Amino acid sequence: MDTLAGQNAFRQARKRRIEASHAFDGDADRLIQYYREWTGSYELDVEREHYRGPLIVAELAGAVQAAYIGRERAAIAILDAGCGTGLVGVELAHLGFRLIDGFDLCETMAEMARQTGTYRNVQGDVDLKRPLSDYSSASYDMTVCCGVFTLGHVRPNGLRELARVTRPNGFVVVSTERSYADATSFENEVLRLQEAGVLTPVQYLRNGRYIGDEDAHYWAFQVHQSPGGKGNYLA
Ligand SMILES: C[S@@+](CC[C@H](N)C(=O)[O-])C[C@H]1O[C@@H](n2cnc3c(N)ncnc32)[C@H](O)[C@@H]1O
Repeated sequence: MDTLAGQNAFRQARKRRIEASHAFDGDADRLIQYYREWTGSYELDVEREHYRGPLIVAELAGAVQAAYIGRERAAIAILDAGCGTGLVGVELAHLGFRLIDGFDLCETMAEMARQTGTYRNVQGDVDLKRPLSDYSSASYDMTVCCGVFTLGHVRPNGLRELARVTRPNGFVVVSTERSYADATSFENEVLRLQEAGVLTPVQYLRNGRYIGDEDAHYWAFQVHQSPGGKGNYLA
């Protein structure tokens, strides 16, 4: 096999690996096993596919802080939901954020995030498809989530739980892979939450770069009211 053909074969294998997870339909056991096996080469694989999601999510979080939050970045508490190996946390730290917590379904991915040294606390075995009971009294200034609203991972109603762990007038920043957005009702979930007074979109980057030849949409929401929670938190 010549070098170019070899590179193409590896590229196709990486692509197949990334796309394989899309068929899991949110099955936690399969996702955990898949990411456990992938942990060691995850960062190399996604970097070779020019993964830009973490940088864009972090930059959007930075823009939201500059536009809407008065406090300095170092004093803003952020939760990175589905933090994986910590790529978003590293980008946030480059931008001056310091109080970053993270969680992930897969403990081995979460352990990699801990090892980056950029997180205050990282929890493994936390499933965004269930109520985040470990975060029952959480009230983050900002919650970020990159690469999790992806086919086979978490359904659009996960957005409610992200809003719930964010303080009133705080922000949620997420990516939705374009194939996911096309196949799911994420925009309907946004409308439902908006009509219920839970959140409002404040920024939307449509068809931004994401990974390889797959685009994503990037959203920033302001949270007004805890979904299903007690009381209206509107300031
Ligand atoms: C494509 S990776 C993205 C990781 C990281 N945010 C990044 O951008 O590199 C998706 C991550 O979502 C996690 N994940 C999948 N389903 C999840 C769930 N239900 N709850 C929490 N994390 C989940 C996976 O374990 C994996 O680490």
